Amino acid sequence: MTAIVKRFLVLNGPNLNLLGERQPELYGSAALEEIIERLHDHAEDLGVKIIHVQSNHEGELIEALHDARRWAAGVIINPAALTHYSYALRDAIASTGLPAVEVHLTDIDKREDWRRISVTRDVCIDQIAGHGGDSYLMALDRLLQYLLRPSG
Ligand code: DQA
Repeated sequence: MTAIVKRFLVLNGPNLNLLGERQPELYGSAALEEIIERLHDHAEDLGVKIIHVQSNHEGELIEALHDARRWAAGVIINPAALTHYSYALRDAIASTGLPAVEVHLTDIDKREDWRRISVTRDVCIDQIAGHGGDSYLMALDRLLQYLLRPSG
């Protein structure tokens, strides 16, 4: 009998494909591929799998969330700038019924006023921000902790 391995959707929104070259003083020098590689390794250590999707298109992110309803145990999402205004993305996260953790490389609460607003935060079980690429690893830990909680 084969054990069923939990799989998690990792979603990255607009402009995150440019990590490494995009404002490195803010977002660091690691490329998105490096961050996701580290997350893959961390997932393997924890005995789970991640499936990564990056898109610059809101609709594609929404469709990836719809699809995840059928296979994912949870979602890690960095909605990037969509965090601050996309009610469509917020509704899509809520519609999955899956536990989601919102992730940011930077501490959005310490940046411009408009970045302090997250319309997606309260449909997620948690928000982890300000730890660079480590935010993603911490989000996976948080999801597993949530799923393994006594009442879960
Ligand atoms: C970001 C923060 C957002 O405000 C910004 O638009 C991004 C990246 C972060 O990871 O720190 O694109 O989500």
